[in-house]
Amino acid sequence: MHPKINGDRLWGSLMTLAEVGATTGGGVCRLALSDEDRLARDLFVRWCREAGCSIRIDAVGNIFARRTGCNNTRPPVMTGSHIDSQPNGGRFDGAYGVMAGLEVLRTLDEADIVTDAPIEVVVWTNEEGTRFAPSMMGSMAFAGLLEVQQVYQITDAQGHTFGAELERTGYRGEGLGGTPIGAYFEAHIEQGPVLEEACKTIGVVIGGQGQCWYDLVLTGQDAHAGSTPMARRRDALVAAAQIIQTVNRIGSSFPPGGCATVGHLSVHPNSRNVIPGCVQLSIEIRHPDDLKRKAMDMAVRAAVREAAATGRIEAALTQVLDQPATPFDARCVAAVREAAASEGHSHMDMISGAAHDAIAIARIAPTAMIFVPCAGGISHNETESATPHDLAAGCQVLMQAMLAASTAVTPGADGFS
Ligand code: GLV
Ligand code: MN
Ligand code: MN
Repeated sequence: MHPKINGDRLWGSLMTLAEVGATTGGGVCRLALSDEDRLARDLFVRWCREAGCSIRIDAVGNIFARRTGCNNTRPPVMTGSHIDSQPNGGRFDGAYGVMAGLEVLRTLDEADIVTDAPIEVVVWTNEEGTRFAPSMMGSMAFAGLLEVQQVYQITDAQGHTFGAELERTGYRGEGLGGTPIGAYFEAHIEQGPVLEEACKTIGVVIGGQGQCWYDLVLTGQDAHAGSTPMARRRDALVAAAQIIQTVNRIGSSFPPGGCATVGHLSVHPNSRNVIPGCVQLSIEIRHPDDLKRKAMDMAVRAAVREAAATGRIEAALTQVLDQPATPFDARCVAAVREAAASEGHSHMDMISGAAHDAIAIARIAPTAMIFVPCAGGISHNETESATPHDLAAGCQVLMQAMLAASTAVTPGADGFS
């Protein structure tokens, strides 16, 4: 028996989901715990119930849809991703991994396949970290890397807490983690140009690079733009500009793999004839090598100190994420590689540049990821695009890897654990 996923149905679910929070530019805006995120969650729950799954929601709003197996004492073989998005996000980032999981459920039902271990499809809460930082919040909390009470207190730019928004959207459940996972697989678009340039259909992801996120508040002094001599100014935006340039240089100074970005800037009072007295900005750095990431971290801290001293500015730097480089599980990776080969798809091993829930889950369970190409390597952008062919190929590989894990009998009969 060789079940085949239905690529048209997968594409259909992706396009229907993309109507929730659709933007005029062809993307989606579904910030974590917004009304749009809630509607997308409701749709996922409805589709999974229709597919015969039971639904469980945990204390940080992670949603688990469970399809029972023959041996329900075994830990589940799990797949999933996120359905929250960037403010101008694309239709596939995260959504693909969740809809691919749903397509696996539907295909197994159609083919009357009962797996040995149960199968679960999960929606992790707030992977993007754009509204509430840090990213991977639901999966990190599940993995015991964040405290639930700490997560509830995190605020967005308007001062709404995560806890209150979780309650408001009706997705505050009970319990958090502590239950073993036999194996976790996540399908995702690559979000970079490697697969497209190499003309490969499947990325066999062997691990994820590490990253650090920071919030920086620079405080100088608001003053009149016409009557304050240049030498007397304490211009927080000038200090920010200096830091932005240096952060960019730090990224380029750690090849291959170094990345450094200032993506958010908020200027006060943001008036054309007032010297900016306060600037808040985000900084993030990434590198596959933790020693190099540490060196980048020190360079960022030095850049902040130097700009503050030069501009007579107070600088408060807070680190909000410190994620080490994470290798994936050799047996799960091999299952993905074997599935890609047996399905006849061109494939290559690669490291993930982007963060994913799989990177958090890899800390507690055997994990691997499956990448498919995205056009021009563009993601976190409304124009993000992937072909139905590649999305179907990745979903088929996902199903085969999950079937291998859910029927694998190991000494502990625990999937790949
Ligand atoms: C998530 O999309 C990230 O890589 O920041
Ligand atoms: Mn994603
Ligand atoms: Mn993303």
